[in-house]
Parts: sequence; C-alpha cells; structure tokens
Amino acid sequence: MKITMVMLMTVDGKTTRGENKNIYTWTSSEDQKHFFSLIKKNNLIVMGRKTFEASRPVIRLEKGKLRIVLTHHPKKYSKESVTGQLEFSNENPEKLIKRMEGLGYKKILLVGGATINGLFLKENLVDELYLTIEPKIFGSGKNIIEGQLLDKFLQLINVKKLNKKGTLLLRYKII
Ligand SMILES: NC(=O)c1ccc[n+]([C@@H]2O[C@H](COP(=O)([O-])OP(=O)(O)OC[C@H]3O[C@@H](n4cnc5c(N)ncnc54)[C@H](OP(=O)(O)O)[C@@H]3O)[C@@H](O)[C@H]2O)c1
Repeated sequence: MKITMVMLMTVDGKTTRGENKNIYTWTSSEDQKHFFSLIKKNNLIVMGRKTFEASRPVIRLEKGKLRIVLTHHPKKYSKESVTGQLEFSNENPEKLIKRMEGLGYKKILLVGGATINGLFLKENLVDELYLTIEPKIFGSGKNIIEGQLLDKFLQLINVKKLNKKGTLLLRYKII
C-alpha cells in the first residue's frame, strides 16, 4: 500500500491558528486547488476524528471514494456512516491497511491530523509527504505530528512555488 501524507503549515510550523479548527480561512486558493486535486485522484482517504469534525463543511461524499475516520468510538458514529463512502474505525494502522489491501486498494491519502499522522509514521507506513508552507506565522497552534518521538529522514523530491506571495509546495520521500 502506498501511503501519501498531505499537510499544510505556516512558516513557523503551525497547521492551525491557535484553537481555530477552520484552516480554510487562511489557506491560499492555490493550496486548496492542490489539495482537492489529490482528493480527486485518490479513492481511499484516511483521517483522524478531529480532522473529520473540522473538515465536515468541505467533505462531499461520493460513490467510489471511501473516507475512513479513525476514532476510539466508531459505534458513536454508526448513524453517520455510509457504506463504501464513510466509515468509522478503531483499527490500528497496520490492521486497517491489511483490510484495505484485501479489498483491492493500492494507495491511501492520509490527510491528518497530527495525532493520526504520528500513528502512521511511528510504524514506518508513510511513503511520501506533500507539505505546503504558507508564508504566515501564527505562533500558536497544532503541529504536523504530535504524540510521538520520531527520528525520520526525508528526501526532498520537488519544490514548487504556487503563487506570487510564495506559498511553497514541497514533496518529500520518507526513507
Ligand atoms: N493544516 C493541515 O494540513 C491540517 C490537516 C489536518 C488537520 N488539521 C487540523 O488539525 C486538527 C486535528 O488534529 P488532531 O491531531 O487534533 O486530531 P486528529 O489526528 O485529526 O484526530 C485525533 C483523533 O483520532 C482518534 N484516534 C487517535 N488515536 C487513535 C487510535 N489509535 N485508534 C483510533 N482512533 C484514534 C481519536 O478520536 P476519538 O477522540 O473520537 O477517539 C483522536 O481524538 C484540526 O483542528 C484540523 O483542522 C490541519
């Protein structure tokens, strides 16, 4: 299974502005275009429950695209689940990947947040990272990865300047 992590941060490494969960108030339209093109190209998207809650307004369920939300309490969300489109699971990453491989999936787009990213990275399950850097500083907020002590090496594959103000899109291979 090829796993691609996609995250967006400020120059000071913040993925949210303080406690504000809505990232669409500060992301550039160019990054949004990049993110939604990845969503379009992937039919298996995995996220943490908090990211799901934060993204609810922009999530559009569709046939042929499965979103899996990791939570310790999947039963709590059973009414919201839509077969083949929105699932809630408490499987660990390895178990989830095995099950998805069994169903024929070949790639996962991992869209955060920090806690879930940490779970996958800790088990060496992530192959590449798309990281957008917006030219902003928030001082306080979430990080890309939280809750794990890691020592990962990455190889920069590509850098693209997305707009005039200098939003950067970096693509890394995770070794
Ligand atoms: N800038 C960006 O690119 C970006 C991307 C994504 C998210 N975000 C922001 O990041 C914030 C969310 O990040 P976060 O780190 O707080 O949360 P998160 O990683 O999205 O979700 C954490 C939740 O995942 C569930 N979880 C954790 N470990 C688990 C395990 N072992 N098994 C099953 N479920 C598990 C738990 O849900 P339960 O509590 O339900 O058990 C936990 O509360 C949001 O504000 C969002 O807007 C930013």
